[in-house]
Amino acid sequence: MAHSVQGVVARGKGLPVELTTILVPDPGPGEALVKVQACGVCHTDLHYREGGINDEFPFLLGHEAAGIVEAVGSDVVNVKPGDFVVLNWRAVCGTCRSCLKGKPHLCFNTFNATQKMTLEDGTPLSAALGIGAFAEKTLVAAGQCTPVNPAAKPEVAGLLGCGVMAGIGASMLTGEVHRGDSVAVFGCGGVGNAAIAGAKLAGATTIIAVDLDDRKLEWAKQFGATHLVNGSKEDAIVAIQAATGGNGADVCIEAVGHPEVLRQAFYARDLAGTVVQVGVPTPTMTMPDIPMIDFFGRGGQLKPSWYGDCLPSRDFPLLVELHLQGRLPLEDFVSETIGLGDIEEAFHKMERGEVLRSVVVL
Ligand SMILES: NC(=O)c1ccc[n+]([C@@H]2O[C@H](COP(=O)([O-])OP(=O)(O)OC[C@H]3O[C@@H](n4cnc5c(N)ncnc54)[C@H](O)[C@@H]3O)[C@@H](O)[C@H]2O)c1
Ligand SMILES: [Zn+2]
Ligand SMILES: [Zn+2]
Repeated sequence: MAHSVQGVVARGKGLPVELTTILVPDPGPGEALVKVQACGVCHTDLHYREGGINDEFPFLLGHEAAGIVEAVGSDVVNVKPGDFVVLNWRAVCGTCRSCLKGKPHLCFNTFNATQKMTLEDGTPLSAALGIGAFAEKTLVAAGQCTPVNPAAKPEVAGLLGCGVMAGIGASMLTGEVHRGDSVAVFGCGGVGNAAIAGAKLAGATTIIAVDLDDRKLEWAKQFGATHLVNGSKEDAIVAIQAATGGNGADVCIEAVGHPEVLRQAFYARDLAGTVVQVGVPTPTMTMPDIPMIDFFGRGGQLKPSWYGDCLPSRDFPLLVELHLQGRLPLEDFVSETIGLGDIEEAFHKMERGEVLRSVVVL
């Protein structure tokens, strides 16, 4: 039996999103039906609405969510009804060549639910990042559910499902920030500020926040930035060198998704330092024009970061515990809580830079 619930659908490129009735099937083998409690509004939802990801409209948006498992398919063992879970968009397969090499966080064959959620007339919906959680209920692969401590508030725990995990992981996992390191973060939205929080948690002593918007820099300070650089008013590379004894930062994190910012991150780095690329470029962007001798001569590493190199089953419960112990202020990412009918307005607030995260609470 399909469940008839309210969900937020993008019907066509650039069209305002619509709250409408959708049909969610009962879970089949390997699937879980989740009652959504909270779902953050991420920039990627807006990219879907604008046709920037693909043309498979209509989309059921929302992918940064927490909720309660309502039912599971016959063979599911990792979760059961009643579990409080954070949803992830990289359910690892366990059998691809990366998983078999002991690197499940890089799984090359991640998967989603097999059955489709639909509009009332049967039109199949494309669920954003295989989740579709701007809805009262959603159907996912059971592997997309990670149980975490239910003492955490859903609107806070759900943030780990996308941007905040990507940012924390960019620092702690991809960037391997160590005690005493200097770290520069370019772009202080939800992802960049989470990278700053991650750098602080890892023991970085110098944390330089770069953005074009002073509001974002004030938030960055709250999350642990020791130096603030407005890249529209001063040269970010010069400012980072000045903050690091003329050397550049040990780890530079690009959290914008732009070739010019990647170039800055490359040159703002100390010798043998690391550049992490967590911002997502558009398909037409090309690598910055950097002399090959600079690439060789400066040494170190350039590392793209998929989902912050996280392994949800390992990292979600751990970060929820750190949050509950007061060591990770996830609640500070929640700028406002909203209803399912407020997504379009939340997109505009995001575009105007007024929020870190608007979170739908159901
Ligand atoms: N790698 C992943 O797995 C992953 C996961 C989630 C999001 N992302 C990506 O991370 C990026 C950031 O996401 P977000 O939600 O924080 O977005 P956001 O829009 O909230 O933040 C981007 C920030 O960059 C700043 N900015 C823009 N141009 C800049 C420049 N030239 N120099 C310095 N700062 C600049 C903006 O003022 C803004 O504060 C996006 O590209 C998003 O798609 C990646
Ligand atoms: Zn795999
Ligand atoms: Zn996202």
